[in-house]
Amino acid sequence: MRSYGRKSISASPRPRDLLAPDAKLAGVWTAQVITLFPEAFPGTLGLSLTGRALKDRLWQLDTIHLRDFGEGRHRNVDDTPAGGGAGMVLRADVMDRALTEARSRIAPEAPLIYLSPRGRPFTQARARALSEGPGVTVICGRFEGLDQRVIDHYGIEEVSLGDFVLTGGEIAAQALIDATVRLIPRVLGNQSSVEEESFSHGLLEHPQFTKPAVWNGRAIPEVLLSGHHAKITDWQRAEAERLTKERRPDLWRAYLQSQGRDPDEDQEL
Ligand SMILES: C[S@@+](CC[C@H](N)C(=O)[O-])C[C@H]1O[C@@H](n2cnc3c(N)ncnc32)[C@H](O)[C@@H]1O
Repeated sequence: MRSYGRKSISASPRPRDLLAPDAKLAGVWTAQVITLFPEAFPGTLGLSLTGRALKDRLWQLDTIHLRDFGEGRHRNVDDTPAGGGAGMVLRADVMDRALTEARSRIAPEAPLIYLSPRGRPFTQARARALSEGPGVTVICGRFEGLDQRVIDHYGIEEVSLGDFVLTGGEIAAQALIDATVRLIPRVLGNQSSVEEESFSHGLLEHPQFTKPAVWNGRAIPEVLLSGHHAKITDWQRAEAERLTKERRPDLWRAYLQSQGRDPDEDQEL
């Protein structure tokens, strides 16, 4: 009789499912991604701190290949837009099958997001809220996007990365997941850096400097080398306010309101 490979059974103190490289852990923050390009993941999420955290199972990634749920022999996922026009649209029935599978393997309270230039802008506050939940299911669109009926049927939230159009949702998904995962405790070595950075207090972050003390005739602001912590904090706060006021009047208004100040009394707005 021919033998096809080696079959060995050995006792293991660890449960079998934990030995599988793609085994999913209950209670671990989960990024679930529905995509036509699962090979794009983890992508940059597999590098540096998010990559280490992924290996250490501080979070986990579950990619779902939309093609597996396609129609017919060719596994078609898209068709021409009703009413005519350029491009193709992702089919509702195909996405429904992918979603049924996806939602069966994530906590039901995990939000369901379709990345779309039409969506509400993604913010640091949204990243924080997502990081405090069990995870998220994100749908990466392609072509002209997704049939509206499946968005309405599932009550899917549309989230945008900004006022520009990407070719597909994969880069947007990585950005959303990166911004969220780094807020999960222990993912960043230094948690205080999260508290100090842009948006954490409603302001953009102050400028940063490092060695050498003078570069190309430009010196580091003296106060930062003074060792006087109160003065350094005052300088950083003043710079953060200046930059926010100059670059983001929308954030500046909201910041003034959060401080109980009246934005209409700010002459330069
Ligand atoms: C070429 S775009 C589709 C654009 C769509 N026809 C429109 O005009 O709104 C293909 C996919 O890329 C993703 N995408 C493009 N721009 C995005 C953005 N600013 N934010 C989030 N996702 C985006 C979405 O998933 C979208 O379905």
